[in-house]
Amino acid sequence: MTEQHLDTSGKTWSGRFSEPVSELVKRYTASVLFDRRIALQDIRGSLAHARMLARQTIISATDLAAIERGLTQIQGEIERGEFQWNLDDEDVHLNIEKRLTALIGDAGKRLHTGRSRNDQVATDIRLWLRDTLDSIDTLLRHYQTALLDLAQQHAATPLPGFTHLQVAQPVTFGHHLLAYVEMAQRDRARLADCRRRMNRLPLGAAALAGTSFPIDRESVARELGFEGVCENSLDAVSDRDFAIEFSAAASLIMVHISRFAEEIILWMNPRMGFIDLADRFCTGSSIMPQKKNPDVPELARGKAGRVFGHLMGLLTLMKGQPLAYNKDNQEDKEPLFDTADTLVDTLRIFADLVPGIRVRPEAMSEALKQGFATATDLADYLVKKGLPFRDAHEAVALAVRSAETRGCDLADLSLGELQAFSPLIATDVFAVLTVEGSLAVRDHIGGTAPAQVYAAILRARRTIA
Ligand code: ARG
Repeated sequence: MTEQHLDTSGKTWSGRFSEPVSELVKRYTASVLFDRRIALQDIRGSLAHARMLARQTIISATDLAAIERGLTQIQGEIERGEFQWNLDDEDVHLNIEKRLTALIGDAGKRLHTGRSRNDQVATDIRLWLRDTLDSIDTLLRHYQTALLDLAQQHAATPLPGFTHLQVAQPVTFGHHLLAYVEMAQRDRARLADCRRRMNRLPLGAAALAGTSFPIDRESVARELGFEGVCENSLDAVSDRDFAIEFSAAASLIMVHISRFAEEIILWMNPRMGFIDLADRFCTGSSIMPQKKNPDVPELARGKAGRVFGHLMGLLTLMKGQPLAYNKDNQEDKEPLFDTADTLVDTLRIFADLVPGIRVRPEAMSEALKQGFATATDLADYLVKKGLPFRDAHEAVALAVRSAETRGCDLADLSLGELQAFSPLIATDVFAVLTVEGSLAVRDHIGGTAPAQVYAAILRARRTIA
């Protein structure tokens, strides 16, 4: 290394400046404490870039060999936790480059030819998010499998279906769980869609305008598994819409998880008592000895809020930025990381929590005896006997009112009592008023008849694979 190649100030761009930044500004602008999380992606991107530079004879084969050796060593240091991260070197990119130069000299300084941290970070974060999307997809599939296994056991277990949180019609517990399988399937489709749009290579955009070196972007894209290159250099370095899309998809996942969490909490309340949750997902109270609280689903419900918050943060981060790159974008990482971490933990827990649900079919059946869950079946019965639906609706409403006054169910009324509401009612009515009868007749795709639920489970097992 010759003297003139040495960066005497320790700062990459310092030749331009007459005074150093204050300690506070250094801390304020540095991102290394959090963006070191994308170090391995940074190395992957640098290796692909260096190989392309060598193929294009922009750097020599000797330089490339040194860069590969140096980056491999750095990767080992990072993986073993030996790498010395330094706040003075601002971010993950400069930390690695500085270490590379310390290890291999001038070749390390040539790595940044035809590249900027702007296209570098845009590439790293895409690589990281792509891997993250893939693991979240796997976790969603595990969660779906757990739901399907429980649904299979309870494909015929009657549960009061609610609208407005009031008893509406009988459904099976399996059918109810399958609703969440569908939501998760759409969540996965959204992630796949986001991945497809994101999977383009920003490298080559350099700072914003491209580079004067004869680079070959397509080969770098292929090596890094991107489907193609970002078409516009300004767009490539500046937009973080893919991060926003991911956050939006993540928010919807949390919405769905949070709805399920809310149901678990309600079902666990002794007033319903539909399920019990394995002790490993609950905690007690420090003062009330009898308590068993559904902390885990409550926390999941609460954590949805922070994920939505990150979505708002990222949208706000982007909205005022003129083209092209602005330092604002450095603020994309913490929300992204926290979103991914929250999602990964929540989904792992839920895949384990679902098999920990102990179902109480007796409590579900008991609840079905209140609320006249088969009233619609009685109305449908009258329609099938020729009464217009609106008249049938009115006749049954009167029957319900009468049963309510007597404190009994529709099925507890005698044939004579029922006939007072419509002469069309005959003895075959009692088959219609049972929960099993009500379930069995909803026998079409998407319906709650146990036969349909079994068929839906089979289809879902194929779809989610
Ligand atoms: N740490 C920066 C970020 O996360 C890297 C890009 C910085 N580029 C720049 N011109 N300051 O966005």
